[in-house]
Amino acid sequence: MTNTMWGGRFASSPSEIMEEINASIDFDKRLWRHDIEASKAHVAMLGATGIVTPSDAAKITKGLDQILVEIEGGTFKFSRALEDIHLNVENRLKEIVGPVAGKLHTARSRNDQVATDFRLYVRDEIGVIEAGLAQLQLALATQALEHAATIMPGFTHLQTAQPVTFGHHCLAYVEMFARDRGRFADAAKRLNECPLGSAALAGTSFPIDRRHTAKALRFDRPTANSLDSVSDRDFALETLAAASIAAMHLSRLSEEIVLWTSPQFRFARLSDAFSTGSSIMPQKRNPDAAELVRAKTGRIAGAFQALLMVMKGLPLAYAKDMQEDKEPVFDALDALKLGLSALTGMVSDLVVNAKAMKKAAGSEFSTATDLADWLVRNLAIPFREAHHITGAIVALAEKKGLDLKKLPLSDLQGAEPRITADVFGVLDPASSAKSRTSLGGTAPSNVRREAKRWIKRLEKDGVSR
Ligand code: ARG
Repeated sequence: MTNTMWGGRFASSPSEIMEEINASIDFDKRLWRHDIEASKAHVAMLGATGIVTPSDAAKITKGLDQILVEIEGGTFKFSRALEDIHLNVENRLKEIVGPVAGKLHTARSRNDQVATDFRLYVRDEIGVIEAGLAQLQLALATQALEHAATIMPGFTHLQTAQPVTFGHHCLAYVEMFARDRGRFADAAKRLNECPLGSAALAGTSFPIDRRHTAKALRFDRPTANSLDSVSDRDFALETLAAASIAAMHLSRLSEEIVLWTSPQFRFARLSDAFSTGSSIMPQKRNPDAAELVRAKTGRIAGAFQALLMVMKGLPLAYAKDMQEDKEPVFDALDALKLGLSALTGMVSDLVVNAKAMKKAAGSEFSTATDLADWLVRNLAIPFREAHHITGAIVALAEKKGLDLKKLPLSDLQGAEPRITADVFGVLDPASSAKSRTSLGGTAPSNVRREAKRWIKRLEKDGVSR
């Protein structure tokens, strides 16, 4: 049997392989809700403009509503022979309302139809992801407030650098996720133009009202160029680019959780809910969820690459290559949503080992910069020279196996005679962190203020735990 939707000029049916490579229903059935929503908007417009009679429009709308119920209820039979979600819905419509169903496709093509459905889908997903990012921000800001004064070592090159607070570290991620939200919001804004009514590629001779459908589907306006409309997948690419950057951030935080919860660091402990055991080593508590979030970055960034490669050589306008746009987007956004939920759970439950953090923060001469700064401030020594003097003191402390603050004053004075006992006030990691009150600095007073500001802002946006 030839395809009843487009088989008019064909004498025989496609080969099995043809059907297998051509059919997208196995994955694009996900678009059912958006497909029906867009069809309802289209037929309402056809009715309003008199392109179909109001009574035909009403019959079609009723049929579409019934399909919605059937799919929701799981009784709808998806067929591969009908290729994709668009033809599956239309075919069922014909079974329900009869030949009048054929009028739905007036002044429309699957090319503008799929472009519209997919935009609606991506727009919805962006909303969910943005909310997930905000949720994660709130979990981090809450930890930040609790740990505004919890001292930990700050690292560069993963070498102990200067004391910071754990709250400050958490708020660094809050900033990253704020930028991610901005990127998604930006993509959503540019996405929000309606391609419906561009038809196959050239527009249509029917007196359609594209503003009508754009408004019904909550788009800001119709797209301006019909060729561009059916061949554009920038909205999916931008979303995948934003997703890739967000996933990279999730991965960095996951990696830190893996480090912090390792027995070598012992900075934090994951809850039982987010740990797994080993089937052979009874003592193990593995951070599998953090590792998997870290790993999912690969498939998310891979999806971006995949779609970029699908699109890169396509002449205008639509080509079937573009059917390959959906799976990477579905997979990447699913992975991102799951990663966000898992990381939010891990962060909310994370129990910080303040003692271990503080101990590590006081090791490895982490307050050497504070000593150099003291020399600059109190003895008016140029910083470069102060750096040199401090270096000599650190070398001596290392040789003696002592922390800076445990060195006798006489040793310090051996390097610079004008040093007084006053210096010990800056050699403690907590006072070091407390002194860094510069804008954006790690001082607990700053962190407390910033954490409160974020929590207030997020709660005002309606985010709650
Ligand atoms: N399933 C197709 C896709 O996802 C729908 C558009 C088909 N258009 C066409 N001219 N064959 O791209």
